[in-house]
Amino acid sequence: MSDLVHLRGADVDVVVDVSTGLPTIVHWGLPLGDTVDLSAMSSAMNRTPVAGGMGEIAPISVVPMHADGFPGRPGLAGRRGGGRAWAPRFTPVRHDLDGHVLSVESHDPEAGLDLSTIISLDDVLTVTVMVTNVGSRRYSLDALTVTLPLPVEADELLTFDGRWAREMQPVRTSWPHGAVVSENRRGRTSHEHPPLVFAGRHGFGEWQGEVWGAHVAWSGNHTMLAERLADGRRYLQGGELLHPGEIVLEVGEFYRTPSLVAVYSDGGLTPATWGFHRSLRRSPTHPSSARPVLLNTWEAVYFRHDTDALCELADTAAEIGVERFVLDDGWFGSRRDDTSGLGDWWVSSEVYPDGLGPLIDHVTGLGMEFGIWVEPEMVNPDSDLFRAHPDWALTTDGYEPVLGRNQLVLDLANPAAFDHVLAALDALLRDHEISYVKWDMNRDHVQGSGSNGAAGTHDQTLALYALLDELRARHPSVEFESCASGGGRIDHEILQRTERVWTSDCNDALERQTIQRGASMLIPPEMTGAHIGPTRSHTTARVHTLAFRVATAMFCHVGIEWNVTRLDDTERAELAEAVALHKRFRPLLHSGDTVRFDTEPAYCAHGVYAADRSEGIVSFAQLTTAPSLTPPALRLPGLEPDRLYRIEHVRLPRERWGLAGSQPQWLTDGVELTGRQLAAHGIRPPVLHPESAVLFALTATT
Ligand code: GLA
Repeated sequence: MSDLVHLRGADVDVVVDVSTGLPTIVHWGLPLGDTVDLSAMSSAMNRTPVAGGMGEIAPISVVPMHADGFPGRPGLAGRRGGGRAWAPRFTPVRHDLDGHVLSVESHDPEAGLDLSTIISLDDVLTVTVMVTNVGSRRYSLDALTVTLPLPVEADELLTFDGRWAREMQPVRTSWPHGAVVSENRRGRTSHEHPPLVFAGRHGFGEWQGEVWGAHVAWSGNHTMLAERLADGRRYLQGGELLHPGEIVLEVGEFYRTPSLVAVYSDGGLTPATWGFHRSLRRSPTHPSSARPVLLNTWEAVYFRHDTDALCELADTAAEIGVERFVLDDGWFGSRRDDTSGLGDWWVSSEVYPDGLGPLIDHVTGLGMEFGIWVEPEMVNPDSDLFRAHPDWALTTDGYEPVLGRNQLVLDLANPAAFDHVLAALDALLRDHEISYVKWDMNRDHVQGSGSNGAAGTHDQTLALYALLDELRARHPSVEFESCASGGGRIDHEILQRTERVWTSDCNDALERQTIQRGASMLIPPEMTGAHIGPTRSHTTARVHTLAFRVATAMFCHVGIEWNVTRLDDTERAELAEAVALHKRFRPLLHSGDTVRFDTEPAYCAHGVYAADRSEGIVSFAQLTTAPSLTPPALRLPGLEPDRLYRIEHVRLPRERWGLAGSQPQWLTDGVELTGRQLAAHGIRPPVLHPESAVLFALTATT
């Protein structure tokens, strides 16, 4: 039946009904097979009106409409003068299928609005919608979000919360009925409300159960809703959260939603999240070169910049095997602490009397790349920039601005401010041999009005993207990192413009086990910044062995954030050994499939399998004391069932073992097991102390 369009992914099918006002996804889940008769679907599936209800059942279309009788949150909200056109009703105009991309046009001549929907299915299901004002008066848009229906069995939610230095914390909620809302008004993707939700059958795990996941790929404000309607239907909805009056469409103007990016698997969370990873890996901006091990100066020297000391740090870094040296905050303007200087992107002659040249030459002379920290969206009131252009700060006239870390947001939607920042950064990159930019953003963007007095977060977010796009176009060989006080800006849209995220300001390995596990549900390890920090963590004061810190950072884009000049020769050699170990496994770690395993809460187990399942590496960490002294066997699903795998302990410097008479034999001798055995009975991890980890490698021998 021509009203139903069938999109096929690798392990997922989507069927879209294009006869409804807006297209309606009538199936998103298991593949339906090659010989499916779609025309049978409607008669098999359709809901019939019921006593006490409306005469027609409003579909849960990608933009469900109040005027169709949809009882949940409408996908489109807005109005014209006097409150008119508040409840439009669309009819489909045309649709077009081009490969795996379906475009549908819908129209409401009464309201003077056109909606264009694009639905594509490859590694991920992606939906975007655009509304155009084709009427004769301005239209105020309050919300345009994308909605995906879910089956009733998806009755458990996995969402994430967090805070500074504790990002991506998983939260499981039973979802029998009603609505769960996650809204972010912080003007950046946020630590608190990552725009990511999974729904699945009750008790879904890493390798079991059907799982549906959705992510709003947007770096500003967002809203996500999961609702079970009283009639039993469920849906997920996500999009940009608009402040009052933020989007006003003049005649002929349009607004496009961020992409809602969605994944599905009938085999649990781990396979579902491969879709997110594969989609980022397919992006033209995804880095293809080996991820350079970096040293970041922040926790090594903070604001104590001194060329000689930094050169010494670079010498030691190079000796240890570091490949990129990143100069963090403190090199510019009057920036001797966090009270002043943001906005003045010229090299401080106070700390660098001969400029950055000598340090950069020293670093590159050692064979390392040079990277630099900037925070271009911000300004300190105590800065030359603010004194010259106080009106460039995003504030609201008549009100005292709220400061965060002594700073304000610059109005990048103001072309003069945009051009100024672009010129300053362009000159910085043009005049220095800089290969890498750590792009920071350390203040929530609140109370920010644009130059017209209306809320400015939407325009600011687009201006940020435009600024990054322009800089990347002018400096195509420079890589960028997205940092926002650590992991405050981790999303798939910023990752079209950055090769890495700074996942958290917390380098404590114990905290990082959970933070990185959460992040791995959205982004692949090569984009996930993870640093080996000092023995005593600067953000928690916990003390961890080098082995635990290395095992934790090892899987991601590795860095060191530690004053390594203070290490003695043995410690340097151990760190160099750790860096070499990472480099040995790096090709596998950054190309394979990330796998996570379900364990008791005292443990955290994850790894990477090569795409062809010829090898793998697994980490088993003990986070806290556990109910049993001997850890339960760890099952490793997802390998080739009939291949034989040799399992060998990967030794880490300064490993520490728990209180055991002896440890499992395989730890010293290795062992060979089939993929089927590894999934069925698994392997016994050693007895560990809390806050330690063991790594083991898997190599197929058949
Ligand atoms: C933020 C970042 C840190 C560091 C400091 C510098 O907190 O997350 O990594 O760059 O700013 O001020």
